[in-house]
Amino acid sequence: MELVEENSVKIKVEIPKKDVHAKMEVFYNPLMKSNRNISVLLLNSVDNKKMNLALPLAGSGIRGLRFLQELEKGKINHLFLNDKKDNFVKMFNENLKLNKISKAKENSISVFNQEASLFLLNLTEEQNIKDFCGYFDYIDLDPFGSPNPFLSVTLARITRKGIIAITATDTAALTGTYPKVTKRKYWARSMRNDLMHEIGLRILIRKVQLHGVQFDKALVPILSYHKDHYFRVYFVSNKGKENSDEVIKEHQYLLSCPKCLSFKISNYNQENCSCGWKYDYAGPLWTGKLFDQKLLQAMLKNNPFPEEEKFLQLLNDEMDTPFFYDLHALSKKYKTDPPKMELALKKLKGTRTHFSLTGLKTEKSLKEVLKVVLSSKK
Ligand SMILES: C[S@@+](CC[C@H](N)C(=O)[O-])C[C@H]1O[C@@H](n2cnc3c(N)ncnc32)[C@H](O)[C@@H]1O
Ligand SMILES: [Zn+2]
Repeated sequence: MELVEENSVKIKVEIPKKDVHAKMEVFYNPLMKSNRNISVLLLNSVDNKKMNLALPLAGSGIRGLRFLQELEKGKINHLFLNDKKDNFVKMFNENLKLNKISKAKENSISVFNQEASLFLLNLTEEQNIKDFCGYFDYIDLDPFGSPNPFLSVTLARITRKGIIAITATDTAALTGTYPKVTKRKYWARSMRNDLMHEIGLRILIRKVQLHGVQFDKALVPILSYHKDHYFRVYFVSNKGKENSDEVIKEHQYLLSCPKCLSFKISNYNQENCSCGWKYDYAGPLWTGKLFDQKLLQAMLKNNPFPEEEKFLQLLNDEMDTPFFYDLHALSKKYKTDPPKMELALKKLKGTRTHFSLTGLKTEKSLKEVLKVVLSSKK
């Protein structure tokens, strides 16, 4: 056991010596600090107040403790924490004491030791918690690997306008290391190339949305990203058949030409590229927006975490259109040197993308991009 400090809180936990794995006792993963920072910042940057928050896979409980200490006054109505590990309740209560959480705050916490889906389903108004009727305004799914086992229940238990936060660490499954796995777990076709992280994120988004639309819940991403070998998406849940149909309209294919490297979005997956080659395809996947620009701006304005500044700025500056040109891949294909990023950005009215250091998002055609790439030939 070790004492660790993360921002405003300290906890006594087991620190992984090497890799994190599911068999460990309740543990603390320092690599996910950024994931937690951003969740605190996001909740402090949306208008929602008096929220009922659920952490069904709470792990060490550190995120919950940080919510208690760092969310602005009036944000939390009640915080529900759960983890199936045997020692979870004992450990969490000890960590509550360690952080000298006030009695008033303590009264707004309930701690459970159940299977996550049962935890979400078992909670009803009979709990006699003030202003809680069995539905949550925020549910944070932070599993090892895939969120799949918990999606249906999460969708059934989210309130109108509620926020669902989802982490997926099974990046191999989403980026198509084994295409059959992507198909089975995420109901889509992956593609292994420079675009695979954006493809994986958009495949994940669609999969979660499919769970929503069956209950007429339209899940709209407000912040979605890939970072340090995991995917993270925050959705707002909107009610209604029309809204759900709008979401489904944005489930399309990415067509990518292996010969000339052009790409496009299409409702069909069998098409030929204008160069004559047959397009390869990925999807169906979400082709809509990844970010709510206003939210990102509010987050940048409120941001108390210097270590997240660069990343948030990158997201904020990123053109929110599906997919990008990888300048290195293009230069390799067309046997030239990669152009200077700054110059290419200017000439193509493009932006960088957080998905790749050498990626450029632009609305220009491949032909125009190639002009810039080829002009760097020595
Ligand atoms: C990645 S950790 C959570 C980390 C935590 N959210 C944080 O920020 O520190 C995943 C946790 O899910 C718990 N877990 C896995 N499957 C579960 C299930 N079916 N029901 C409840 N808890 C589960 C594990 O015990 C583990 O503590
Ligand atoms: Zn082509």
